[in-house]
Amino acid sequence: MMDKKYYITTPIYYPSGKFHVGHCYCTVVADSIARYKRLRGYDVFFMTGTDEHGQKIEKKAKESNKTPKQYVDEIVKDTKALWKDLNISYDKYIRTTDEEHVKCVQKIFQKLYNSGDIYKAEYEGLYCTPCESFWTESQLVNGKCPDCGRDVELVKEESYFFKLSKYQDKLLKFYDENLDFLEPISRKNELINSFFKSGLEDVCVSRTTIDWGIKVPFDSKHTVYVWIDALTNYISGLGYLSDDDSKMERFWPADVHLVGKEIFRFHAMIWPALLMALELPLPKKVFGHGWLVVDGNKISKSFGNYKDPRVYINATSVDALRYFLLHEVVLGQDGNFSEELFVEKSNSDLSNDLGNLVSRVTAMVEKYNNGIVQNDEVTENIDEDLKNVVKSMIPKVEELMDNLKVNDAISEIWKVISKANKYIDLAMPWILAKENKRERLNTVLYNLIETIRIVAISLQPYLVETPNKIFDYISVDKELTTWESSKEFGLIENGTKVRKGENLFPRIEYKEGIFDMQEENNVEIKKENIQDTKIEQVQEKGYITIDELDKVELKVGQIKEVARVEKADKLYKLSVDVGEKELRTIVSGLVPYYKEDELLNKQIVVVTNLKPAKLRGIMSNGMLLAAGDFDVVKLLTLDNNAGDLENGARIH
Ligand code: MSP
Repeated sequence: MMDKKYYITTPIYYPSGKFHVGHCYCTVVADSIARYKRLRGYDVFFMTGTDEHGQKIEKKAKESNKTPKQYVDEIVKDTKALWKDLNISYDKYIRTTDEEHVKCVQKIFQKLYNSGDIYKAEYEGLYCTPCESFWTESQLVNGKCPDCGRDVELVKEESYFFKLSKYQDKLLKFYDENLDFLEPISRKNELINSFFKSGLEDVCVSRTTIDWGIKVPFDSKHTVYVWIDALTNYISGLGYLSDDDSKMERFWPADVHLVGKEIFRFHAMIWPALLMALELPLPKKVFGHGWLVVDGNKISKSFGNYKDPRVYINATSVDALRYFLLHEVVLGQDGNFSEELFVEKSNSDLSNDLGNLVSRVTAMVEKYNNGIVQNDEVTENIDEDLKNVVKSMIPKVEELMDNLKVNDAISEIWKVISKANKYIDLAMPWILAKENKRERLNTVLYNLIETIRIVAISLQPYLVETPNKIFDYISVDKELTTWESSKEFGLIENGTKVRKGENLFPRIEYKEGIFDMQEENNVEIKKENIQDTKIEQVQEKGYITIDELDKVELKVGQIKEVARVEKADKLYKLSVDVGEKELRTIVSGLVPYYKEDELLNKQIVVVTNLKPAKLRGIMSNGMLLAAGDFDVVKLLTLDNNAGDLENGARIH
């Protein structure tokens, strides 16, 4: 058995409705960490699940005329389907209605009652049902629940209490001695200031007014407080106090509990105190992440900014959604989720940077060398430069991932992707092909394919479909897809056959309402519906009206002056006569395709009403039309031998 083990958990979710993209956040982050650890050779146990008891669920079930169990069963089924769609690689899905969990909670309650850590008294206080939280008067904000802002109710009942106060000093000492235990540090400070300063109070751990829950084993009038029930999942799921506690032996203490910031305090305070009372070791880390917000508000059903995550997956891809969640949100901070930004990032980072790199390079290998990879070792300085960036990436990713800096780790990979794209621009394989420098061309393409292999390996924790597609395009053997193999540049063998694959990330056009395919209250995902909608959109996208075409002003222009733009490898500054008083300045990336004198006096097609933009400090006012892709680019010129078409003539 492997000696390196890793135990990671997400919170267990309330199955109180459909899950939104905010719920996916923590699970996708935990999944990426679990996948990363597995790639590093760890024996990983990754657990998620559902927190199915409590007043909230009881109420919801009643509203839909179901028993609580019927109600949660349906949601759990849908939740598991969602995790499957997101390719969540959990090792165990725990439900607090599982028999083993129920037994474990009861045994723990009994154990703590026997040891005196749980005792019976009268509870009088305030309770927030949606949050299942008890509050004191002074903790309320404007008389409302400080977490969700909703009304609290006064509760007075006989209850069991857990002696949290007894653990106050022990907890503070543990925090002091284990500086990595609570992260980010700001949340730890906030916790100490708002809870410890006024002294910890004992926690009410049973309710007599709630039926849907686990019964106190020696007093069945009482139901165990849902948070005690829920927190226990982290050890009941490992078989604690059961006949088979081998997983508990192997995986406890947890390496990290990843939780949202509003439930950080339960995990940072009550949970470790319970573990101390049970004389169990404490988890190594509790990490409180931020929320996905829309216009500053937490995404949640009650704020109405809710959409089924599968709408995004079906319209783009699982990897596009995972990429957004993992890269655009800094772990620990709130992150803005907007559909426009989601589309923008998918287009720029995935289609343009990554997708383009893979399709350009594989297409070039296919075109120039019949798909065969061949390192002819005709090297230049730019090769070393590329290799250095690639080789330094993996150790950086490792260090960042070991410190849970998921988004920064992804940024390191993108540095390599953008370096590789620049390398193509510098090495200009199409010119090498034109000039028949075969050996140099093969070397350049080899370096690029090898870079793509290493990029694909490093992407495996985050993207779940793309790396395998890439491995398939470049047909590498299994042993060249391992994490260890990413540490060496040059492992792909000569003769490997590469094929140009499909576009990894087709671009999508952002339009308002693009994702409003489903009724708010009827988000059942019916694939056929989504597909129909997609086809409709494509068809709609295929046509423009004559009015739309009319918006583009095309004119005949003639290039009068040509100059190179300083420090830009590809750019010319052109002065173009489009029949106006002054010549237009247009900056264009034609250097790899035309010599200066080939451009002079050419009559071409110019878009004259494009919004001016600054390129390398030069205001470019218009655009030249050209055809072709990476290796062949031809300007659109005019059949104007008679010379009777004047500069500035409108093109219809
Ligand atoms: N059942 C408790 C957790 C018990 S763990 C022993 C619970 N459930 S929950 O369904 O309300 O929330 C589960 C997790 O989802 C929390 O960590 C919460 O922060 C997270 N999120 C819910 N909405 C979110 C966003 N909009 N953004 C990011 N995470 C969010 O609390």
